[in-house]
Amino acid sequence: MAQRLSVSYQKKPCYDIVFSQSFAELWEELKGLGADGRRLCIVTDSRVDELYGDAVLKLLEGNCLKTAKYVFPAGEEHKTLDTVKGVYTYLIEEGFDRKDMLIALGGGVVGDLTGYVAATYLRGIDFVQIPTTLLSQVDSSIGGKTGVDFDGYKNMVGAFKMPRLVYMNLSVLSTLEDRQFFSGFAEVMKSALIKDAAFYEWLIENMYEICERDAAVLEEMVRRCCGIKKLVVEKDPTEQGDRALLNLGHTIGHAIEKAKNFELYHGECVALGTVAAAYISWKKELLSMEEYYEIRDMFVPFYLPISVDGIEPEEILRLTKSDKKMSAGNIRFILLKKIGKAFIDTTVTDEEILAAIKEIQFSDEDAHA
Ligand code: GLY
Repeated sequence: MAQRLSVSYQKKPCYDIVFSQSFAELWEELKGLGADGRRLCIVTDSRVDELYGDAVLKLLEGNCLKTAKYVFPAGEEHKTLDTVKGVYTYLIEEGFDRKDMLIALGGGVVGDLTGYVAATYLRGIDFVQIPTTLLSQVDSSIGGKTGVDFDGYKNMVGAFKMPRLVYMNLSVLSTLEDRQFFSGFAEVMKSALIKDAAFYEWLIENMYEICERDAAVLEEMVRRCCGIKKLVVEKDPTEQGDRALLNLGHTIGHAIEKAKNFELYHGECVALGTVAAAYISWKKELLSMEEYYEIRDMFVPFYLPISVDGIEPEEILRLTKSDKKMSAGNIRFILLKKIGKAFIDTTVTDEEILAAIKEIQFSDEDAHA
């Protein structure tokens, strides 16, 4: 029997997160949402389609009014309004109406983009998330943030749209390439750092099993992250306050992602951004020096970068300011009071940000260390 977690929106139960080791229970879950009387369109990318597209399509075929599948090329560079337009056109051609349903099968790009189509097509239709990467399972598939990048700026256009179901087949984690898996781990670290010191300790204790992708340990890890995310998004669904804590590492992280032209993975940039935020927290005497180095070095066994070459600190600062995490002209920086306790700070100065960027800038000394 699959485990589940119910997520509320505006204080009412809204959708379940189902944790399974296969796709076996997917149809029963969809049927419970009335999928048998509707048209279903899987939206996925070329990489995920090769792995799971047909398997998921077969589970649906013959069970509902009509099944369809829209596949777009994999990669962050396709998280655009042009791809959204392609999905709209396909849905119109296939006769999808407001009672039908979209199935987002894939990682963060697929989930965010499909959710945005679901939020806007015919002023909103239902959608289900089937996250297939660690990053999307522990973070992006939960909480209803949807959107696309615009002009290279991350998630500049979007909407809040709650899914009807988040179905996780945790066995997919075993097929992820290492870089993708560890990129997702950066969001796991983030969850622990902002809210749960005991979980942070658990991650240290289970470091070997996580790297070896022990199925039971990964299941517990994903469930604990989802539990943290559930509490945060239930309290503040539209990021008026505490939800911003989930952006730890993202302000400088997004700037690096853009400056490096998306050559680094999102989680790799989040790791760099988190090191920078922890550095600022140390310099502001919130964290001790030992805590700063401990946080920084925790990324290393998970193959995540703690320094980066080929960046211009001034350019990263400029891009940081054009990220959307601003409040009345001030950057809403997420800092750490201690491991497991984050807060929003709007007083971080340009000098402090520049010093933090220089701290994570790869230098020849690092090369010879
Ligand atoms: N990924 C951050 C959030 O859902 O708010």
